[in-house]
Amino acid sequence: MRVLGIESSCDETAVAIVQDDGTILANVIRSQVAAHQPYGGVVPEIAARAHIEWMEPVLEQALKKSSLTLNEVDAIAVTAGPGLIGGVIVGVMTAKALASIYQKPLIAVNHLEAHALTARLTHHVSYPYLLLLVSGGHFIYAVVEGVGRYRLLGKTLDDALGEAFDKCAKMMELPYPGGPYIERLAKEGNPLAFDFPCPMLGVKGCDVSFSGLKTAVRYAIRTLIGNGNPLTDKQKADIAASFQRAVVTILSQRSKSAIDMAREQGLACPTLVVAGGVAANQAIGAALRDVAAQQAMDFIAPPPALCTDNAAMIAWVGVERYQAGLIDHLDVEPKARWPLA
Ligand code: KG4
Ligand code: ZN
Repeated sequence: MRVLGIESSCDETAVAIVQDDGTILANVIRSQVAAHQPYGGVVPEIAARAHIEWMEPVLEQALKKSSLTLNEVDAIAVTAGPGLIGGVIVGVMTAKALASIYQKPLIAVNHLEAHALTARLTHHVSYPYLLLLVSGGHFIYAVVEGVGRYRLLGKTLDDALGEAFDKCAKMMELPYPGGPYIERLAKEGNPLAFDFPCPMLGVKGCDVSFSGLKTAVRYAIRTLIGNGNPLTDKQKADIAASFQRAVVTILSQRSKSAIDMAREQGLACPTLVVAGGVAANQAIGAALRDVAAQQAMDFIAPPPALCTDNAAMIAWVGVERYQAGLIDHLDVEPKARWPLA
């Protein structure tokens, strides 16, 4: 069977077609980054209008790439939340129209579940597994027991990690989204140049907090530019490397705690999976791979292009939900908020 997936919950308009064996027949992504860059972040109104403009051409392109017609797909899956509501509405209305015209089952997908199950599409990992979901809007540790079955172990008390990357990048006047720029700069900097704090490390459980780290970066920058000069490239690289080192320390320790918590709760998992946009970061991936190896666990990070927002992951959840008989009605509502567990 084949499922067509639609994603429009943030700043990517995307349509993909995925087969039940995990073959990606089309995966078209139209990024709006250029439209939002002047504002240093996603502007919901601009995003919603851009989704309206791009949805149809992106859909056409996906069908063309796969050499399929809408009659030849078996179901329509769409991100129904959480996300920027204007964009989510555009996707859901498009999916409802297609489902009703072509008489196909409609599957409303939680965007977080799509990130969470990407490793099943790319690596056929079996349930249960321990998931670290790190994106621009979310940070959670959870045990994934099956489709729709999540046990939440930990979360962020303030910012998501992608958000912390983006805000630190903004403070250094790097373009949006800043995560990839920080990673690139960090390679040239000294990770020991600044002794940034690693909040929550001694605290029981695996919750995280990034606001203290962000504030420390702000103060360091303020001190450096106190004399009125802009940051030099060397200073930016050192800040990026030191920030990333703190993040890696936090994630290594908190992931170990999450593994311990899962074991204590009788939810031992053979595999650690990282997902979401920040999982594209190679330094973070390497650190998590080490943690998993020390705990005799396998480690999986989907390829970067499937870690950041895309519609192949939405279509894949469509496959899994369809197989589990989890079909939605045409009256399903778009949701701005929709927790995973
Ligand atoms: O999953 P995603 O595409 O969108 C959300 O659902 O949030 O994640 C986007 C986030 C942004 O904050 C971006 O800066 C971050 O992922 N990101 C990275 C890297 N690539 C993307 N953060 C750190 N290092 C990277 N290489
Ligand atoms: Zn996402």
